[in-house]
Amino acid sequence: MTPRPFAHQGFTLWFTGLSGAGKSTISGIIEKRLREAGAKIEVLDGDVVRENLSKGLGFSKEDRDTNIRRIGFVCELLSRNGVIAMVAAISPYRAVREEVRSRIRNFIEVYVECPLEVVAGRDVKGLYKKAIAGEIPQFTGVSDPYEPPLNPEVVVHSDSENPEESANRVWAKLEELGLISF
Ligand code: ADX
Repeated sequence: MTPRPFAHQGFTLWFTGLSGAGKSTISGIIEKRLREAGAKIEVLDGDVVRENLSKGLGFSKEDRDTNIRRIGFVCELLSRNGVIAMVAAISPYRAVREEVRSRIRNFIEVYVECPLEVVAGRDVKGLYKKAIAGEIPQFTGVSDPYEPPLNPEVVVHSDSENPEESANRVWAKLEELGLISF
C-alpha cells in the first residue's frame, strides 16, 4: 500500500508551563510523530537553548525575556521558511509570549497545566526541594511568578492525562487548524 502523503505548513508550536510539568515529554512525542511522517522540524528545548543560544543568561525577568525573544526570533525564521519549530520553555511571562506570538504567523500555544504541588512532588530534577529550601533564588512557581496563558490554543492537564493523551490532543488541534494534513 502506498503511504498517504503528509503535508505541513511552517508553524511554531510553543509549550509553556512550570518546570517538570511535562513540556519536553509531550513535545518529544509530537516531534517523533512528525519526524516519522517526514516533517521538517527543529526543537528548541529550554535546557538546550540555555547551553547554547542563551548561555550566560540567568533567571531574572530581564534574562528570561531575552531568552524568550531569542527563541522566538529563531522560530520566526524557521516557521516562515516552512519548517516546524517546537519550543519547550517555561516562558513564565505573558507579555513576552504575546510579543513573540505577534511576530509569528502560525503560532500555537500549548499550556501544559499542572498544579505546583504535583510538579514539586514529582521533582524530577530535584530542583523544587532546593528552591523550597531557599537554595535556588527566583525559582518559577516557588519564589518567582508564572503567568498562565489567557487564550492558549490548547491546554493539557499533565496531572490527569498521560503524555500520549496530551500529545493526541495537540495533534488533533494541528489537524483542525490545517497545519498538518494527510
Ligand atoms: S525560562 O523561564 O527562560 O523560559 P527555561 O525553560 O529556559 O526558563 O529554563 C528552565 C529550566 O532551567 C528549568 O527546567 C530548570 O531545570 C532550570 N532552572 C534553573 N534555575 C531556575 C529558576 N530559578 N527558575 C526556573 N528554572 C530554573
